[in-house]
Amino acid sequence: MQIYKVGGAVRDRLLGKPVTDIDWVVVGATTEEMLAKGFRPVGADFPVFLHPKSGEEYALARTERKSGRGYGGFTFHASPEVTLEEDLIRRDLTINAMAEDDQQNLTDPYHGQRDLEERILRHVSPAFAEDPLRVLRVARFAARYAELGFNVAPETLELMRQLSESGELEALTAERSWKEISRALMEDQPQVFIQVLRDCGALKVLMPEVDALFGVPQPEAHHPEIDSGLHTLSVLEQSALHKQPLTVRWACLLHDLGKGLTPEEEWPRHIAHEHKGLKLIKAVNERFKAPKDCQELALLVGQYHTHGHRALELKASTLLELLQSFDVYRRPQRFEEFIVACEMDARGRKGLEQRSYPQADYLRGAANVARGVAVQPLLEKGFKGPELGEALKRERLKALKVYKESAAS
Ligand code: CTP
Repeated sequence: MQIYKVGGAVRDRLLGKPVTDIDWVVVGATTEEMLAKGFRPVGADFPVFLHPKSGEEYALARTERKSGRGYGGFTFHASPEVTLEEDLIRRDLTINAMAEDDQQNLTDPYHGQRDLEERILRHVSPAFAEDPLRVLRVARFAARYAELGFNVAPETLELMRQLSESGELEALTAERSWKEISRALMEDQPQVFIQVLRDCGALKVLMPEVDALFGVPQPEAHHPEIDSGLHTLSVLEQSALHKQPLTVRWACLLHDLGKGLTPEEEWPRHIAHEHKGLKLIKAVNERFKAPKDCQELALLVGQYHTHGHRALELKASTLLELLQSFDVYRRPQRFEEFIVACEMDARGRKGLEQRSYPQADYLRGAANVARGVAVQPLLEKGFKGPELGEALKRERLKALKVYKESAAS
């Protein structure tokens, strides 16, 4: 049997990037031989094994054919006769379809090295279409390698367009899609992921609520970039520039969905878009089964981001309601994430990327003031149950009034 390193490990070594996990392909072996050498099978009837010591994945060379819709609809054929070239041709991109032996000799039948040098993400063969998840993968690689100058080949983008129009994307499971989306959002240029999905028509299928933002104008005074879709891309870009966590990036992507619902005659104003957007945010959250913290933050940022921007003008009572809605007493981190999402929203505007955002510290200060109100004196006065809650609220309101006045002077 011959063993080769394949896929991302080869690609990233040639790019001079750190290699995190290594995939191997084994040519000329049978399942029985692998088991005899101590490899552990990954699934009952899938020709992938884990190395007894390193735990790395070793796959028997295989060909694949699609036999139905979705990911389950696959038949594969693994046997000692399957060649390395046959295994490589079923893979997604030429830059992912190179193999290397233990002497670092490259097998590159589909010119992955040339495409690496020319910075092109190009599909290997029509077999690309057998897994619609690859539409998201290509967009993710475009986001990851954008800083190196990579672009999607026109013929690959065309194939992605056909796949998006075919209805195949709908067959993807929420779990597989979310894995790609969440990884893509954590790349340095997540806005490229959304842009590429839009360019091939996949965004309209996966997140029509986000796609609908493009072409919708906003008032130029607050939004020099005008277009709501471009604004969303900039907010996402800012969230990555500021190294924000996934929760914040997800909230940034979804914060303005309500703007896609504004009747044209009301443009460029978007009255109550914060509330109108909530059902759309909920729908996207549920479609991809986003983790609970991502879901929650996206809804809260959607509902309250304009409160964040108006923080310094809010009445003390409104400020208190905001803090209560976030449960800042028990969930301080979530309020901090809200604050930075608002800041990203303020900076994700053409020419305003460097603006200061005094609202952030003002909100942090308000949260500290409200949290600083002690319960003990109220208990000592004999308050308990719902009355204690009311008394606490009154004290917090008093403290916030003082805070607001001192901040204004
Ligand atoms: N692959 C594919 N189609 C998929 C998933 C994977 O063709 N839908 C192939 C590619 O050759 C890929 C390899 O399997 O390089 C390993 O896949 P994976 O580990 O998911 O990705 P990597 O390319 O290693 O990239 P990453 O750095 O993002 O993990």
